[in-house]
Amino acid sequence: MSAPALNGARILLLGASGGIGEATARALAARGARLCLAGRRRESLAVLATELGEGAAVATGDIATEQGRRSLVSGALNELGGLELLINAAGVLDFVPFDIHDPGAWNASSAPTPSARCC
Ligand SMILES: NC(=O)c1ccc[n+]([C@@H]2O[C@H](COP(=O)([O-])OP(=O)(O)OC[C@H]3O[C@@H](n4cnc5c(N)ncnc54)[C@H](OP(=O)(O)O)[C@@H]3O)[C@@H](O)[C@H]2O)c1
Repeated sequence: MSAPALNGARILLLGASGGIGEATARALAARGARLCLAGRRRESLAVLATELGEGAAVATGDIATEQGRRSLVSGALNELGGLELLINAAGVLDFVPFDIHDPGAWNASSAPTPSARCC
């Protein structure tokens, strides 16, 4: 079964500057989505936007902060003129042995994901 065409659907994609989000960006662009690529590293996002071509925009912000989330959503609205979908692929993957884990680092690494629900 082939994946459905996205026909210009406007999508804010969090975590597009690396890993799963970057791969997702390529897959969505190939199906005709209009993407706003989001993360904190503008340079990585700009390189990907250039590769994906016309229609790919960039917004930077930290989803662990309210200001960052607001900045990402307003940036995407400005760039795309509206939004149909938000996809959150942003997060931190930190493998640490359980018996030496640091609670502060645990909280920091899990902060981005729950915060994104507020967008
Ligand atoms: N890779 C796996 O096998 C796997 C398996 C299961 C679950 N996961 C989960 O999936 C998520 C993504 O994994 P990944 O392998 O794609 O990680 P990754 O390659 O490190 O990419 C993480 C992405 O999240 C963004 N990000 C992180 N913190 C952010 C913040 N505070 N504000 C805005 N953007 C932020 C990063 O962008 P910037 O650095 O530009 O901000 C980057 O684009 C993680 O939560 C991970 O735990 C991964």
